[in-house]
Amino acid sequence: MNQPLLPAALSAALSAALSRYASRNPESARLHAAAAEVMPGGNTRTVLFYPPFPLFMVRGEGCRLWDADGHAYLDALGEFTAGLYGHSHPVIRRALEEALKGGMSLSAHTAGEAALARELRRRFPAMELLRFTNSGTEANLLALSAACAHTGRRKILVFDGAYHGGVLTFGGGGSPVNVPHDFVVARYNDLSSVQALTHAHGKELAAILVEPMLGSGGCIAGDPVFLAGLRGLADETGALLIFDEVMTSRLSPGGRQALLGIKPDLTTLGKYFGGGVSFGAFGGRADVMARFDPRRPDALAHAGTFNNNVLTMAAGLAGLEQVLTPAAISELNERGERLRAAANEIFVRHGVALQFTGLGSLMNLHATDVSISRPADLAGTDPRVKDLIFYDLLERGIYLARRGFVALSLPFGEAEVAEFLGALEAVVRERRDILPARDSEPETSG
Ligand SMILES: Cc1ncc(COP(=O)(O)O)c(C=O)c1O
Repeated sequence: MNQPLLPAALSAALSAALSRYASRNPESARLHAAAAEVMPGGNTRTVLFYPPFPLFMVRGEGCRLWDADGHAYLDALGEFTAGLYGHSHPVIRRALEEALKGGMSLSAHTAGEAALARELRRRFPAMELLRFTNSGTEANLLALSAACAHTGRRKILVFDGAYHGGVLTFGGGGSPVNVPHDFVVARYNDLSSVQALTHAHGKELAAILVEPMLGSGGCIAGDPVFLAGLRGLADETGALLIFDEVMTSRLSPGGRQALLGIKPDLTTLGKYFGGGVSFGAFGGRADVMARFDPRRPDALAHAGTFNNNVLTMAAGLAGLEQVLTPAAISELNERGERLRAAANEIFVRHGVALQFTGLGSLMNLHATDVSISRPADLAGTDPRVKDLIFYDLLERGIYLARRGFVALSLPFGEAEVAEFLGALEAVVRERRDILPARDSEPETSG
């Protein structure tokens, strides 16, 4: 247990930070009020909202953002991982401009589709055949449909705290807007909970759907033994193992599956693979995916007007072929490891019960110093702590997600790592008396 907080002081600091935020950002306030007249809460993407109104950005370049009131930010959010290339990467821009010259919406196949698919298969050999969608959510929906069609079964095993899209959300007991699949929910990083469910439902299970690291659930890495165990249990029950690598694909050229040497039956991708344009893909075992071959009399349909849009195909391919080399990926992830270790050292040095969890270039702040294996380990943490740090960092020009999520982009280099850590340490130093204190004595390493 961490020491109790100073609740009144924390609340007072947070409300002062919110008032300063509101008075610093009148133009964002005005834009938000106008948006709220036509969109519920002025919002079309729930994750972007925070009170009293979210920032409106007007420009991005490299890893910098500018808001509607003229403030500049270091972008440590990287569009929740989709902004891996940064804003306005010259290679991506060139590819988009070239694609525009050829015209959009051609109502037909173009050669770009197979070229991007081939490059993805080269990196993810488990995706023997693949198809494109418009988002990671859609990729997961199609993967689940494919698993149900292939196995003739209906149940899907998922994990508490997982996020596979807006209609496939399993944090906090699920969501009323989830699609009505027959879900059974196991505990993440707890193979025995999966064994119990496969024992009870094995013959009815179509799929085990898992993120190799819970991303939106707090950057909680899947234990390699746990993930390998899922492979074994899927084999035993005849369910398909689906790795949702929408976030974790960036951890190596072939995603986390390559790092772990685990071959899923199906893989889903999303985010940056479209070069910053809408993207999703699902693919895997040829015998499963072949059902989508429209030449077959029993073909499964998979539609989507923009599945093959020329901008995504062009930007995605240019990024992979010209920018996202294996060296670029490993440097990015090493930078992330260094940033996370240094941030955690700051927390230890100042005796505050905060930590960043994650892998490589993906991380999430948590207001506790206990070891975290699953979202339930975060129960009881005070959400005001992360809120205060969020608004304080915004004030110091660091843009991250309110939930404390950070995703580095390629232009986020060593200077930016130092800039981020400098701002973080300044916030921790200023607030240490009202932040939760560590139980343990300060250590020398993070
Ligand atoms: C692991 C995971 N799966 C699926 C999705 C959904 O992707 P999209 O937002 O493109 O629909 C996300 C989005 O954050 C994700 O993190």
